Amino acid sequence: MKVVETIGLSKTYVQDFLGVEYGRIKVRFRNRKVEALKDLTLSVEEGEIFGLLGPNGAGKTTAIKILMEIHYATRGKAYLMGRPLGDLRVKRRIGFLPENPYFYDYLKGWEFLDFYGQLYGMPRGARRARIEELLHLVGLSHAANLPLKGYSKGMNQRIGLAQCLLNDPQLVILDEPQSGLDPLGRKEVRDIILRLREEGRTVLFSSHILSDAEMICDRVAILYKGELVDVGSMNELLSAKTEQYELVVSGLAEAEIEKLGSGARRVLVSEGQALLIYGDEGSVQEAVRRTIQAGGKIESMTPRKESLEDYFIRQVGGGARPRSKGGAA
Ligand SMILES: Nc1ncnc2c1ncn2[C@@H]1O[C@H](COP(=O)(O)OP(=O)(O)OP(=O)(O)O)[C@@H](O)[C@H]1O
Ligand SMILES: [Mg+2]
Repeated sequence: MKVVETIGLSKTYVQDFLGVEYGRIKVRFRNRKVEALKDLTLSVEEGEIFGLLGPNGAGKTTAIKILMEIHYATRGKAYLMGRPLGDLRVKRRIGFLPENPYFYDYLKGWEFLDFYGQLYGMPRGARRARIEELLHLVGLSHAANLPLKGYSKGMNQRIGLAQCLLNDPQLVILDEPQSGLDPLGRKEVRDIILRLREEGRTVLFSSHILSDAEMICDRVAILYKGELVDVGSMNELLSAKTEQYELVVSGLAEAEIEKLGSGARRVLVSEGQALLIYGDEGSVQEAVRRTIQAGGKIESMTPRKESLEDYFIRQVGGGARPRSKGGAA
């Protein structure tokens, strides 16, 4: 089942801007048009983690805001769970974490969740049980009685996640859930997203942190300047071909390392270890054989595939044009 479907979704913002500096009018434009989203056609299948990726200004938030009916599309259509936008029964099954959520920071963690639980019309007993469960899921049980204003950025993001899961949503939409978090915080959010898929939910999230998305997404869509550049699974998008082999050896004399280095792309020597990078399998196998023969030790041998980051630079880094207009997902 297609949980999210967009067909030729487009959004043109009309900016009416008056810039004032030191009491003087500096910039003034009326009716300036920004095509934030151009002909976006894609779908998200039930039970998958789908990443909406792209650099700043790509149109990720715009697409999400249209799905949430915070903004309205200029052209095109969108469906959630097979129904046109605006269906209240569908809305009840959606959880949403906006890009820069604003929370009432004088409320304590549990009060905040209780407030939203009441908005959902959840009975008191059910609210209590669900809040306890969610605080545990996002690792905030210890901070339940702390006002939100004492929360760190990571804690804020996690309480926001708990909030968007209160209604036991079938579809979870998260706009940059990992933004502003340190690597540990990003891992925690990744783990929560993976857990949501295990529970059978569908997750659509946006990010510009490609490595985070690469680790957890079943499929991704790449947006650039409002256009869909590509969409597919990691396997489909990334070249399956191994790009290079990284070999780390130790216990070899300098002369031996020099010999091994003759077939390598790069050699780095530090603290008794040498890192050698080879471009083909034959060369790395030969180097492994020679290392063992010379009495050295193989510390590691890592075939390195193209990353989403490499792919992204290949696609849009050089200013490449999107592959196809509104290509079907
Ligand atoms: N409310 C608005 N009014 C006018 N222009 C807007 C509005 N919201 C976004 N835009 C413009 O639309 C384009 C897409 O913005 P959007 O916020 O959707 O990008 P994004 O991919 O979410 O970027 P980011 O990674 O920075 O969050 C940008 O050029 C932005 O300036
Ligand atoms: Mg955004």
